[in-house]
Amino acid sequence: MIITVGNTKGGVGKTTLAVNLAIARALDGRDVWLIDGDRQGTASSAIALRGQSGKAPGVACAQYTDGTALRGQVLQQRNKFDDIVIDAGGRDSTALRAALVLSDVLLVPFAPRSYDVWALDDMAALVDEVRSVRDGLRAFAVLNLADPGAGSDNVEAEAAVAEVKQFEYLETPIRRRKAFSNAGGAGLCVLEIMPRDFKAISELKALKEAVFDMQRTSKED
Ligand SMILES: Nc1ncnc2c1ncn2[C@@H]1O[C@H](COP(=O)(O)OP(=O)(O)O)[C@@H](O)[C@H]1O
Ligand SMILES: [Mg+2]
Repeated sequence: MIITVGNTKGGVGKTTLAVNLAIARALDGRDVWLIDGDRQGTASSAIALRGQSGKAPGVACAQYTDGTALRGQVLQQRNKFDDIVIDAGGRDSTALRAALVLSDVLLVPFAPRSYDVWALDDMAALVDEVRSVRDGLRAFAVLNLADPGAGSDNVEAEAAVAEVKQFEYLETPIRRRKAFSNAGGAGLCVLEIMPRDFKAISELKALKEAVFDMQRTSKED
């Protein structure tokens, strides 16, 4: 399956979730290719650290910030992998557009602050554009960096996403936890780091299952 973790907004957790999901799938025994579509190269640096430390399972990683290169490489190499996870952002990013044309699923992380929720409109417009040239793109929105103490974040986020018909809201929020930032930056997954954070582990597992379970029914317009 090809999944893009994308949002034109920065700092919402695209790289953190892309790295964690890619490694979690590798731990399930899948051959995973993580593509870094961001000029800043945060995901590729993280996976390079993982490689240097010899941590198994390995995750293949490449950086293509240009849409044409990303498209060409994915078309050429996609049969070699079980899953391809693309980390892409930037309002005018050709990589994000190219990634969306090739993806089965778009996962849009957003943070529980109103301006991040509004930024969903930006992504909704992109989803419309992609759906005008191809069928079958599933688009999910997931709350990231939610306050560990407050359930109201979820209620507000769900209501905001319900306004944007392009997205299905995933009821598997990821909360603000040190385990996620520590893991992502080191090229590790929260399933691997010690001491174990069982809340982070169960949040990531729930998200992984929701995203990679294609049996979910579509949101009705
Ligand atoms: N669930 C989380 N809990 C704690 N820190 C997080 C979480 N998600 C992201 N972060 C931190 O927030 C910052 C932005 O995340 P990042 O994944 O780099 O966002 P993006 O790729 O969208 O710009 C990073 O410092 C990251 O470690
Ligand atoms: Mg990033």
